Amino acid sequence: MSDKKTAVVTGGAMGIGKAISERLKKAGCDIVIIDVDEEKASSAASELEGTYHVCDVSDSEQVNETVDKIIENNGKIDILINNAGITADALMMRMKENDWDRVIGINLKGVFNFMGAVLKKSMMRNKSGSIVNIASIVGIIGNPGQANYSASKAGVIALTKTAAKESATRGIRVNAIAPGFIETRMTSDLPDKVKEEFLRNIPMKRMGTGEEVAAAVEFLALENSSYITGQVIILDGGMVM
Ligand code: NAI
Repeated sequence: MSDKKTAVVTGGAMGIGKAISERLKKAGCDIVIIDVDEEKASSAASELEGTYHVCDVSDSEQVNETVDKIIENNGKIDILINNAGITADALMMRMKENDWDRVIGINLKGVFNFMGAVLKKSMMRNKSGSIVNIASIVGIIGNPGQANYSASKAGVIALTKTAAKESATRGIRVNAIAPGFIETRMTSDLPDKVKEEFLRNIPMKRMGTGEEVAAAVEFLALENSSYITGQVIILDGGMVM
């Protein structure tokens, strides 16, 4: 068994999650990628000499089985990054119940599922661990057309603080990052008009990158932030201040 830290990254096959996986690999961690996209997860894992598991974070049974397998392979989980997330936008009046349930199921229940399993099966027992949840600024300020998404991210922030309070005496820290407008597949589909409107409201006048999110995740995940827990770092080029 390796004496390196095991870092589990949900939604690690692409976008921000892939950038986080690369950054934590460079910091010396063993990387375990969790994703629903097998092809991309497998190629990211082989690039990073890590492992991957195909698992839908919204399904608690799959999550429990996956966490058991990771512990069997790696012995323990030191770092958990809850990054998997989706959007299904519509104005609230027109939002379909299924789109509400899917977004809440993956973005919010997925974080609950993974944190619960990893805390219970590894971190609480080892009295050590660090969890970073990827929220969003819209979980703080709201966003028209994103009732499901912004509610899920507000939930992630509350869940982060609750888990931080419940696990601090066991040497476990739980923090969140609230990114603004980051260049990935998720934002590439937005109409140009929406992008221009966003950029107008960003003092730094540019989108952020996955690497910039990953740098903040590394800080919160590793020892440089050893006295920080229950916090949310806003990473948005100055949009919300
Ligand atoms: P992305 O769409 O590029 O990547 C998301 C990853 O999650 C994909 O690899 C996808 O296959 C995986 N995934 C989706 N559903 C899953 C499920 N049920 N179980 C496991 N994996 C699943 O998105 P992006 O932009 O990299 O987003 C990553 C996180 O950052 C998300 O939580 C998102 O809400 C958050 N975020 C993104 C922002 C942006 O501007 N791109 C801004 C603020 C937050």
